[in-house]
Amino acid sequence: MPREVVVAEGLTKVFDGFKAVDEVSFRVVEGEVFGFLGPNGAGKTTTINMLITLMKPTKGEAWINGYSVLKEPDKVRRSIGVVFQDSTVDRELTGWENMWIHGVTYKVPRDVLKRKIVDLLGFVELDKYAKTQVRNYSGGMVRRLEIARALLHEPEVLFLDEPTLGLDPQTRAKIWEYILELKRRTGMTIFLTTHYMDEAERLCDRVAIIDHGKILVVGSPEELKRMIGRDVVYVKAFDERSAKMLIGEVARRGLALSYASPSSNVVSFTVEDAHSFIPEVFEVSSRLGVHILEVKYSKPTLNDVFLHLTGRELRDESGSWMDFMRARMRRGFRRG
Ligand SMILES: Nc1ncnc2c1ncn2[C@@H]1O[C@H](COP(=O)(O)OP(=O)(O)O)[C@@H](O)[C@H]1O
Ligand SMILES: [Mg+2]
Repeated sequence: MPREVVVAEGLTKVFDGFKAVDEVSFRVVEGEVFGFLGPNGAGKTTTINMLITLMKPTKGEAWINGYSVLKEPDKVRRSIGVVFQDSTVDRELTGWENMWIHGVTYKVPRDVLKRKIVDLLGFVELDKYAKTQVRNYSGGMVRRLEIARALLHEPEVLFLDEPTLGLDPQTRAKIWEYILELKRRTGMTIFLTTHYMDEAERLCDRVAIIDHGKILVVGSPEELKRMIGRDVVYVKAFDERSAKMLIGEVARRGLALSYASPSSNVVSFTVEDAHSFIPEVFEVSSRLGVHILEVKYSKPTLNDVFLHLTGRELRDESGSWMDFMRARMRRGFRRG
């Protein structure tokens, strides 16, 4: 039996009568990369805060590395490395100084500490910038420094809260590489949160999809996608009324496994086989006298899984605006 490094049972957090996290239970085994995928406000950060002993659960319990977050918070803290959603490095200090202070705080022996800082800054390719003030780092460099810092005291489990939030695609890919390399090299247990489906897909062995404080489903990205069907067909109808007529007739004939409407005149159908469904949907539309503007099909993504579970899309406008502001804040509104 693989060792269970993170165990949550019925974790619940209520803020002034509002349930931000609602009876969340899951288990993460040693060496696993486990992700919480969900939109803004789903309760990801609140869950992490309870796991890392920053916040007391209203109800429920969790164990990290076998230690109770309620009864043994010190032992929990020594078992974990954390990269917070919002940057926590000291911008006035250099990368090296930020690492050093963290190492001293965690009582890493001085002789070991120096070597470890060199190793870790090398790992995230910041060795050349060790003596540079963090205020001159880009958003991606800050994240890399934070990952290196979280690893300094050799934690049993690494928590990453939205590790690539607001970063550009190339920088994100670079961070993904480090995380995958860390898994390969050390077999570290990693718990991460994200609202990027491609990130969950790329990094996670198993994903829990979370919405409104509740875990909707848990499984490997493959399992989750297989769950909804083999193909997804998007049909863009002339208007909302046409879309509704199509849905009604497709449902009546049992042609699709499920449907969801990401917007008023668009329908996403999950089907066993797009090649047989598409002619059928055209046949239905001509019989109904409904005008179809566009048909697309693809293999399901985790976004489709989310859409078919909740009726909403994972990516939302407010999310991207928040990302933008957060990224700006992380860069300290520096030009360029
Ligand atoms: N300290 C707090 N007081 C009141 N409400 C909070 C607090 N922290 C988070 N929330 C609310 O709880 C919900 C979950 O927030 P959060 O855990 O930050 O979500 P996520 O990290 O998934 O975006 C949100 O509706 C948020 O507004
Ligand atoms: Mg969050």
